[in-house]
Amino acid sequence: MKLEIITHAPRMTITLAGRLNADAAPNLEAVLDQQLQEITELVFDVDGLEYVSSVGLRVFLLAQQKMKAAHGTLLLKNVGQPIAEILEVTGLERILHFERKHRQLSMEGLKMIAKGANGECYKVDEETVVKLYFDFVDKAYAEREKALATKAFVAGVPTALSFDVVQCGTRTGVMYEMLKADTLALYMEKNLERLNDVVVMYVRFCKQIHAIAGDTNNFPDAVTLACGYVDACEFFNDRQRAFLKERLMRTERPGTLIHWDLHPGNIMMQGDSLCLIDMGDMAVGTPYFDFGQIKQVLHYYAGLGLCHKFIGLGDANAMRVWQMFVAGYFDNPDPDALKAIEADIDFYRAIKNVYLYLCSSGGETMRARRKDFIFQMLPKEFADLK
Ligand SMILES: Nc1ncnc2c1ncn2[C@@H]1O[C@H](COP(=O)(O)OP(=O)(O)OP(=O)(O)O)[C@@H](O)[C@H]1O
Ligand SMILES: [Mg+2]
Repeated sequence: MKLEIITHAPRMTITLAGRLNADAAPNLEAVLDQQLQEITELVFDVDGLEYVSSVGLRVFLLAQQKMKAAHGTLLLKNVGQPIAEILEVTGLERILHFERKHRQLSMEGLKMIAKGANGECYKVDEETVVKLYFDFVDKAYAEREKALATKAFVAGVPTALSFDVVQCGTRTGVMYEMLKADTLALYMEKNLERLNDVVVMYVRFCKQIHAIAGDTNNFPDAVTLACGYVDACEFFNDRQRAFLKERLMRTERPGTLIHWDLHPGNIMMQGDSLCLIDMGDMAVGTPYFDFGQIKQVLHYYAGLGLCHKFIGLGDANAMRVWQMFVAGYFDNPDPDALKAIEADIDFYRAIKNVYLYLCSSGGETMRARRKDFIFQMLPKEFADLK
């Protein structure tokens, strides 16, 4: 085995190539014993590693223990298929933090077919597209979206198959089955005379997703994530954080799936049936999290004249769709009941905006705006908490 060490304390990168077996392991163990004094970020670059035996795996675990004791981190990067399989069968994938090596994809000759807020979608061949994220999107997001899309498919959500995470220059992407379809937003815009029927389909589809049981081993729990966003948001004070988390903890937990960005731009109309895309925020939780984001896009962005720009559905039409959607989902509530429902929805809308604020979605102008409208969406007593 070849071993190369680059140290820039507190970071050390150890590049390994060849076979990490009983012959090679003592060498690496000696490095860990003697050279980690000032190191709290240990990286094993295993791009050239072909094989790891049980003794080799124990050295990784030893490194993990040492980093834990030093309050540091260990990362295995460029993990290729053979090593990933060993980590999977031994269950160490849950213990060791690692990043897979992604297949390189050339952009040459690829034609862009659509653009979203986080990336662009290119046709690879007649059956496949690649969704390439912009550089500002966290690199781990592609793995997460691919994994959630697969789990959602297995749980019964109609969604495109996701094949692979790829690297394209500095950008990361997910390869998907190509859906030969328009988005529901574009379909609505082109079929305004049928809008009533199409919204009925939209409501039925959302209810179908919201009835699918989700297991928190496979999908994150929305309340837990939301509490984390509240904690991470720097412009709340402690009493405001406590208020939001107390309310979140009282949220009903039906144990069913949400998409968390379920606007008609993320649904494709294939023939007569609907299919979900953009799966990176799938979670388990109350559908109110979904209503919050649907209202944000169809009502709030439309009010700013941005819905057409974002999803191709005219702003006035989007506002109508929102009213029809909420009436349809809640079976025509009377005006007082509707007011109460919308107030609840606004709470979850505010929470999603905290998340969008934290990941700077929509750029800096939108980020500045979000802070103001988070306060507008929440009850007045919230802003008064000091
Ligand atoms: N599997 C697919 N087959 C065909 N077209 C697709 C597929 N996945 C995505 N698209 C197209 O690419 C567009 C952007 O995809 P997606 O919504 O996943 O990206 P995004 O950048 O995360 O979007 P958003 O703007 O909602 O954040 C879609 O509106 C759709 O037109
Ligand atoms: Mg999208």
